[in-house]
Amino acid sequence: MNENTHINEHGRPICRNGSMKGQGDLNGKDFHTKIKGADTLTGITTTGTPHLGNYVGAIRPAIESSMEEGKTSYYFLADYHAIIKCQNPARIRRSALEVAATWIAMGLDTDKAVFYRQSDIPEIPELTWILTCITAKGLMNRAHAYKAAVAENQEAGRKDLDIDKDITMGLFSYPILMAADILMFNARKVPVGRDQIQHIEMTRDIAGRFNHLYGEHFVLPEAVVDDKMAVLSGLDGRKMSKSYNNTIPLFESENRLRKLIMKIKTNSQEPGEPKNPAGCTLFAIYRAFASPGEIVEMERRYAEGIAWGVMKQELFEYLNGILKGPRETYCKLMEAPEDMDDVLKKGAQRAREYSAPFLAKLRRAVGIESLG
Ligand code: TRP
Repeated sequence: MNENTHINEHGRPICRNGSMKGQGDLNGKDFHTKIKGADTLTGITTTGTPHLGNYVGAIRPAIESSMEEGKTSYYFLADYHAIIKCQNPARIRRSALEVAATWIAMGLDTDKAVFYRQSDIPEIPELTWILTCITAKGLMNRAHAYKAAVAENQEAGRKDLDIDKDITMGLFSYPILMAADILMFNARKVPVGRDQIQHIEMTRDIAGRFNHLYGEHFVLPEAVVDDKMAVLSGLDGRKMSKSYNNTIPLFESENRLRKLIMKIKTNSQEPGEPKNPAGCTLFAIYRAFASPGEIVEMERRYAEGIAWGVMKQELFEYLNGILKGPRETYCKLMEAPEDMDDVLKKGAQRAREYSAPFLAKLRRAVGIESLG
């Protein structure tokens, strides 16, 4: 406990002015661990193959932030979330391997960041149940993903009981599992996409209710959404996304990468005609990787009327130059899945140094402990 912490009227430590270094500040004297909770935590649902848009929007900023001195980052493969959306076991397994290999090939230091599979932390589903017992059903009724599924049924003309057709309890309870992911490690900052903000708000609601009932156990997490973050367009000009089937996977072979870049949609302007970089998919991808000087130079060439074919070839060469080294690492990692297992198991071991004692404390808080 440090000088910013004092004890409230229930004998529980509380923290003033938001400074919570180390676990001792919030978690009390009956909770000992070698590792501190998460300054930053985020999960990746393992249903797809990482693409350029994932890299620029999520992977790169996460890796960069994990390098900051004195900061503990928790990054995990959300495979229990993945089986809500995808019932193809081969895809789930393959995606977990691809995501893990991608993060490591792109430079994640797994000795520094805590990198693990959600399913290797048994405390997460246990906490999910404890939280389920105090979460208002009405709160879950308001979740965007659930409401969208209901709305779809209503549009299809279903009435009454049928509005829940094909909606699983997994989809309905998704936000509680996500709350457990976050609260299990008392994460302060949670970088997410816009569509996930509601889940962080629900996590805060759930944590607040638990704290109110059982004492101050949980930090209320904050969503971190970067408005300046580049959102890349895909092959057809719409947002690059697996659901549009328009992605450029990060680690395609050189040949496939060239072919995909050649397929990117452009307008019908002729070579020599001045072109507008704004709204151009090729330019946006280039800009997401290039230095400020290179960007200015490319803008000049757009004004001069660079031909689309030339731009595509240059973009390919530029990206390939960046991805070549990591691609080799990635291919090696994909051929040694046992090594990936080892890395992830080690990460889980570190994470459990926090989650196991913390869960024991939470169980005691709700009245589940030895009877002696
Ligand atoms: N639901 C998140 C997504 O689809 C993935 C996720 C699962 C997550 N658990 C999390 C993100 C915890 C942040 C924190 O993007």
